[in-house]
Formats: sequence, C-alpha cells, structure tokens
Amino acid sequence: MSDDKNLSKEWWDNHYTDGHIPWDRQGVSPALYHWLEAGTLTPGRILLPGCGRGHEVVVLTRYGFDVTAVDVAPTAIAFLRQRLREQRLHADVRQVDLLAWEADGTYDAIYDQTSLCAMVPSQWRDYERRLHRWLHSDGRLFILFMQTERPGGPPFHCDLSEMRRLFSQVRWRWSDEPPLEVPHSVGFVEQGCVLGRKN
Ligand SMILES: C[S@@+](CC[C@H](N)C(=O)[O-])C[C@H]1O[C@@H](n2cnc3c(N)ncnc32)[C@H](O)[C@@H]1O
Repeated sequence: MSDDKNLSKEWWDNHYTDGHIPWDRQGVSPALYHWLEAGTLTPGRILLPGCGRGHEVVVLTRYGFDVTAVDVAPTAIAFLRQRLREQRLHADVRQVDLLAWEADGTYDAIYDQTSLCAMVPSQWRDYERRLHRWLHSDGRLFILFMQTERPGGPPFHCDLSEMRRLFSQVRWRWSDEPPLEVPHSVGFVEQGCVLGRKN
C-alpha cells in the first residue's frame, strides 16, 4: 500500500458502518489503566484524538477528567455520544478532521491510542506540530506507537527510532523508562510512551 492512500472520512466511516473495526478492543486498553493506576495520568483537561468508539473516553470521564474526544468518522462519534447519554456522562465529543481542526485552548494531557499510525506518514510532521501546540507548556502526551514491522498501512509502522526523530528532544522530553508493551489481538504490539512537552 502506498503512502498516498486516500484515508478519507468516508473510508474510515465505512469501516464503522460495516462493523469492520479490527483496531477496536471492544473495551478499554490496558495502557490506560496502567497509567491511571500508576498515577502517571491524573485528572485534568485531556484530548483523545482519533477516539473511535471511545471506550477510554467513558473511563476518563468517570475518573473526573474534562474530556474532549474527536474523530473523523460520524458513525463512531454517534456511537460514543449515545453511550455517554445512556450513562449520563458528559464529554465534549466532536466529529472533525484532526488535520483541519484547531483546539479551543490547550490540554494538560493528550491520549493518542493509535491515531498517529492511522495517518499516512507524510502527515505525521503536521500532526506532531498540532499535538505540541495543543498541549500546555508542561503538558504530556500519552501515545501508543503501533509496531507492525511491515510496509504500508494503516496501521503504519511507527519505528521507535523514527518516532524519536519525529518527536525530537528539542520539543519533547522522553522518559528514561522503557516503553510499555501493549499487545493487540490483531497480532501487533503497541509501544506506549509518555512524552513531556518542551517549549
Ligand atoms: C486505528 S483507529 C483507533 C481508534 C481508537 N483510538 C481505538 O483505539 O479504538 C484510528 C481512528 O482515527 C480516526 N481518524 C483517522 N484519521 C483521522 C483524522 N484525520 N482526523 C480525525 N480522526 C481520524 C479513525 O476514524 C479511527 O477511528
């Protein structure tokens, strides 16, 4: 698959309407519980880009976070809104293209669960700049880098050396701790990293 694949709103939404969403765990990622239970991620204003059906949105809202959740796919957004309504929870849920949207203010944290790997690599630099811009000066990015070890996508392989160049030390603080390994039932592994924003 080439890098210039047109991953349009319709392309993503068709997956949700067809029920072909292999990335959806049907539940909350263990990475989120790990960071919550370790006290690494504490309540504040948080953005979930590419939230999909938003299992993590529900949990974070219950934990007292002020959540903004965005996704380009209308069907995923409708599903999440309905779920929040049923559970009488509130989050700011928006159907937008992340690469054409501007955040209203900044966030204490961003939780990116395989949103980067869903974009074509030629869009990554633009997306990295947006993530940086959307965080408070001392905000943190919680990000799951998908490891596919194969060409093409989505998901596109997020080689960690390449990620260190993309999220450069000039703009981001990398932890000394090894990444959190999070297996996915589709057979891939995600590498979870917590990056602090630098000026
Ligand atoms: C791999 S899925 C991950 C979904 C969710 N985070 C999860 O783990 O189940 C990527 C998500 O990003 C959304 N997406 C892809 N490109 C986007 C864009 N440019 N703007 C907003 N959402 C986008 C897709 O609709 C899809 O829901």
